[in-house]
Amino acid sequence: MLSPSTFLSISIFLLLFSFELSNAVSTTKIGQGYRLISIEESPHGGLIGLLQVKQKTYTYGPDIPYLQLFVKHETQDRLRVHITDADKKRWEVPYNLLAREQPPPLKKSLGKSKGELFTASEYSGNELIFSYTSDPFSFSVRRKSNGQTLFNTSSDESDPYGNLVFKDQYLEISTKLPSSAAIYGLGENTQPNGIRLQPNDPYTIYTTDISAINLNMDLYGSHPVYMDLRNEGGEANAHGVLLLNSNGMDVFYRGSSLTYKVIGGVFDFYFFGGPTPLAVVDQYTAFVGRPAPMPYWALGFHQCRWGYHNVSEIEGVVEGYKKAKIPLDVMWTDDDHMDGAKDFTLDPINFPREKLQAFVSKIHSRGMKYIVLIDPGIATNSTYGTFIRGMANDVFIKYEGKPYLAQVWPGPVYFPDYLNPKTVSWWTDEIRRFRELVPVDGLWIDMNEVSNFCTGLCELPKDHPCPTGKGDPWVCCLDCKNITKTRWDEPPYKINASGTHVPLGYKTIATSAVHYNGVLEYDAHSLYGFSQAIATHNALQGLIGKRPFVLSRSTFVGSGAYAAHWTGDNQGTWLNLKYSISTMLNFGIFGMPMVGSDICGFYPQPTEELCNRWIELGAFYPFSRDHANFASPRQELYVWDSVAKSARNALGMRYKLLPYLYTLNYEAHISGAPIARPIFFSFPNLTEAYGLSTQFLLGSSVMVSPVLTMGATSVKALFPPGTWYNLFDMTKTVVSKQGHYLSLNAPLHEINVHVYQNMILPMQRGGMTSQEARMTPFTLVVTFPSGATNGEAKGKVFVDDDERLDMKMEDGQSTYVEFYASLTNKMVKVWSQVEEGKFALNKGLEIEKVIVLGLEGNGVGLQIEVDGFPLKDTSATFIENTPSHVEKLEGNNQKRGMMVVIGGLELSLGKNFAMSWKMGIKG
Ligand code: NOJ
Repeated sequence: MLSPSTFLSISIFLLLFSFELSNAVSTTKIGQGYRLISIEESPHGGLIGLLQVKQKTYTYGPDIPYLQLFVKHETQDRLRVHITDADKKRWEVPYNLLAREQPPPLKKSLGKSKGELFTASEYSGNELIFSYTSDPFSFSVRRKSNGQTLFNTSSDESDPYGNLVFKDQYLEISTKLPSSAAIYGLGENTQPNGIRLQPNDPYTIYTTDISAINLNMDLYGSHPVYMDLRNEGGEANAHGVLLLNSNGMDVFYRGSSLTYKVIGGVFDFYFFGGPTPLAVVDQYTAFVGRPAPMPYWALGFHQCRWGYHNVSEIEGVVEGYKKAKIPLDVMWTDDDHMDGAKDFTLDPINFPREKLQAFVSKIHSRGMKYIVLIDPGIATNSTYGTFIRGMANDVFIKYEGKPYLAQVWPGPVYFPDYLNPKTVSWWTDEIRRFRELVPVDGLWIDMNEVSNFCTGLCELPKDHPCPTGKGDPWVCCLDCKNITKTRWDEPPYKINASGTHVPLGYKTIATSAVHYNGVLEYDAHSLYGFSQAIATHNALQGLIGKRPFVLSRSTFVGSGAYAAHWTGDNQGTWLNLKYSISTMLNFGIFGMPMVGSDICGFYPQPTEELCNRWIELGAFYPFSRDHANFASPRQELYVWDSVAKSARNALGMRYKLLPYLYTLNYEAHISGAPIARPIFFSFPNLTEAYGLSTQFLLGSSVMVSPVLTMGATSVKALFPPGTWYNLFDMTKTVVSKQGHYLSLNAPLHEINVHVYQNMILPMQRGGMTSQEARMTPFTLVVTFPSGATNGEAKGKVFVDDDERLDMKMEDGQSTYVEFYASLTNKMVKVWSQVEEGKFALNKGLEIEKVIVLGLEGNGVGLQIEVDGFPLKDTSATFIENTPSHVEKLEGNNQKRGMMVVIGGLELSLGKNFAMSWKMGIKG
């Protein structure tokens, strides 16, 4: 976290620095590679091989002489390739943090047991084939169905990279890539050119407190995983590659190759065969953990600010939203409620317990929630209970046997070590105690990269106070010296973390500090936020017995199973508005679908126009929260009348779409499917969409096309082939034949959100809180291609008891309904198939309206039947579409679709229904 004043200048420096580095993509070849000296079948499945270094080299340290190779097709479409020191156990992402199969024990005497030898040069699974060369050793992964090579580590003299390198603190491996490969992922990173990775941009992966405004830098999270989408011969296939390693790394993507340079751990590659983008995320999250289900209210709108000075202010904010008739579900406080920025305390003057409790009870009674921030740094204050108990339980990270001293907001702090089981118990107990003070509904874990305002080995100053009391808590006030004596602080190869000009432990924990069981910070650094999220999630779950909500700034592979994420400190600028889309979409690919950016920008403040556009976009982030820095003027959505108007419009639509969003939350939990997705997820063959980062999909079929430029009143948007209906005015239709860019009107208060053909979209009436909205009757929007005579549509909805721990179907606490529609020779049928109807029946959930779009003909003599009986007293209406864009795109002879609205229904959501009618012939 940087102070507001230094925020910008440092960022610009980092930006220029990283730009320089991007030009210096290293081409030096390190190491002479390995030869495979034996390979055999493991009794536990898979292959085990032994590699021997060809010739020892010493750049970045001596090569490890023997390596063990382990290869296994773990599932039908997941292949693992694990390479480690054959003589000695090395650091790996702990198996208790990320549960997975252990590779077989080290066994250097390979190849001696006759009959086990693996003689084939290929090892084939259902979807993927592993093959290798022996001298020098290289391996490749091929797709069985079409022979496509997905990964190939062989190198020629002419390649700008060398063979496999494996040293204690330097591991290098490269793969060739075809020109057709479109690559996504490798984060956390703000990508100025959109979601598709650009050759020669630097991709450094190491968790760092560098704000989201810094482009192509190692930001808060570590996700060494990419998706590769290739369209060859008109056929698109996607696969995923994860390098499961928590050490810092630089990844050089050059367009025709990709090189990993990693400073520790092992090569533990997982290949996910896809072949669709959705299948890749499904396979990935099946491995790293399915996204945590979110409580219903978490999909509502959230308001936060660093700098709410007292309880009256937050009461005022809640009232401000109510008065302006803008929906609000969750009120947050940053560290302002704390006493001296100490976790789990309350400021006795400004946030006295009784007053805060009364506030929380009041908003709870309206169905709203309250969330607070906590930081990892525990103030070293001898009268502070959390600290005293922490010391008594020995929970902190150590340096030479003593807790490692750092500085964050409260001043001097120690950092809890979440790899230590004792820390986890202590943390759980602190949360329990705090919840007795204030029954918070969720926790926000911030600064957990981990952020430190000092660098190196520090002591309490003897000659000045710390904090200095000068109102600049972010300036290091400890007495510190750089630690240069260990190879962990100054590794032989410097990754570009915060730029290569600073030590690896810059503004974080010294990398030679030690965790539980002797684990080095050097190895575990990027796991801090992940381990804290697990501890926090499990604590809340155990204590409340409800589905927990945790928001984490720092994340790692697998964090999605425990926490939501926001993209960190951004700026109130048009560029930052745009960047938010790519980062959000990347996190969907990382298996963290609950993600959003600070709406209207963190610092400095946005213009009124920008805040209008930001809430229009932000209303469709999976995690929708307005948050700002204390140095920015207030930017709650009701502050400007014009923003309030845009908010009512966009959030009004979000609250109507909550059943759809909640169903996407369910799907994310069972299959990893991102809530917000790149357009290519639904249209993988449309290469124009591969780099598209200014529009996105919610689920498979709702497309959001926001305004991202100042002064614009129209937006140029890509429409994949088919019919798209504007959700705000369903008579506005876009029919696209090949995938057109189209200019759409977008006046200040309007955002374009379209639903695709062949969809049945469940909606409700909306409301001021999600609790209110979720009890209102449903509308089903059925979309056929415009003017179709034949067609099919499908949709689904999942409803359940909001906060229960999981989303299991079998206990009568949830209902899942699939909706179907068909159109055959003007005969329209709409019906449902209910699984476990009891929950919806008990809640009295009903469908009041069915809207069918795109039909041909008219309503003359129309007889609607529901469950075999003619519908009486129906308020069916027939509206002829005036599809403004149809003619522009396709000429005048385009068929015009009709809209049929059947209202006044009282269909139980929990019971199967079937309705049908025949459209009249026009004229
Ligand atoms: C840094 C976070 O990124 C920001 O959102 C928060 O307001 C500050 N820390 C203060 O807690």
